[in-house]
Amino acid sequence: MSDTPKFKVTVDNISIEVPVGTTILNAARMIGGDVTPPAMCYYSKLDGSGGKCRTCLVEVSKGSEKDPRPMPKLVASCRTTVMDGMEVKNITSEKVVDARKGVVEFLLLNHPLDCPVCDQAGECDLQNLSYEHGNEGTRYEFPRRTFEKEDIGPYIQLHMTRCIMCFRCVYTAEQLTNRREHGILERGDHAQISTMLNKALDNEFIGNVIDVCPVGALTDKTFRFKNRVWFTKPMDAHRDCSCCKGKVRLWMRGDEVYRVTARKDQWGEVEDWICNECRFQKKSTKDWVIEGPTKVARNSVIAQGHYEGTKKTPIVIDKVIGKDPKFLLDIHDISDVNKPEIELSKIKGPAHSNDFKD
Ligand code: SF4
Ligand code: FES
Repeated sequence: MSDTPKFKVTVDNISIEVPVGTTILNAARMIGGDVTPPAMCYYSKLDGSGGKCRTCLVEVSKGSEKDPRPMPKLVASCRTTVMDGMEVKNITSEKVVDARKGVVEFLLLNHPLDCPVCDQAGECDLQNLSYEHGNEGTRYEFPRRTFEKEDIGPYIQLHMTRCIMCFRCVYTAEQLTNRREHGILERGDHAQISTMLNKALDNEFIGNVIDVCPVGALTDKTFRFKNRVWFTKPMDAHRDCSCCKGKVRLWMRGDEVYRVTARKDQWGEVEDWICNECRFQKKSTKDWVIEGPTKVARNSVIAQGHYEGTKKTPIVIDKVIGKDPKFLLDIHDISDVNKPEIELSKIKGPAHSNDFKD
């Protein structure tokens, strides 16, 4: 038996003993299921992450055994460590449910409603968050924030309008590469991800910023507009790579490899960082030893129908998201991300970047 001192913490009436120093979020993750707060900026593999987005807010109804007073305000569970005897409410707290709706509303204030043409659609944490925790409508009446387009290199597309300022990509570049070339410039609602002098992000491991981005702000140029993620089949594969472990996920349609990403765990976090060569240059099945279909553990449109899941695999979309899908807006009414005269439903097959060229 390990001698590590443990604290007992209760989340939504479920108790667990965790090592001293564990955050409430990680204690909830150890319990698993619905009691786990959503996290848009925390990333367990990135030092210093968390504390930016407030989606993981929880109510501490009892501080500890020694000092049972509740905490006066909701706290960010990714940044608050447990105390012995602490009692935490997540989905059982009306305050949390209400506050989270507000957080989602803030995150969506300036976010374009361009999911129909966004490559992240179907695997976007913000999409899932807004379905699960958001309100139906918006109260925002002002024009959304826009930015000058910026080219950040041959492999990665930056859509600054979609960024939620989670800082994950900055930490990834800082901690994985030895020459970080991008960061956050300005402050407040002027803050933006930028390479400053439009330098390319060309480090061998920089492609991982695509995988950590919870929204479609950083996407893979080699996959852009080529397919929708729900039409592709994720397969686990590996190869001998001199640079990384070479353990990846291939997103295939028939025999074609459309996209290569890192493998992600049940929290949507990368298991092993992969190099640019594996990600962007190995797009043939001959390059890979295919292990088999990916086990999709998260509720996602990717989990529909034909994939083996560790949870009961949902089959139809209303079951995947827990409610009917919401079709509230015509994308052309509110966004000029593509040519309004193009009717998406009339494009044959998957939309291609040529369909949306400026
Ligand atoms: S680009 Fe993506 S990963 Fe980077 S701060 Fe914005 S949302 Fe986060
Ligand atoms: S996940 Fe805790 S503040 Fe973002």
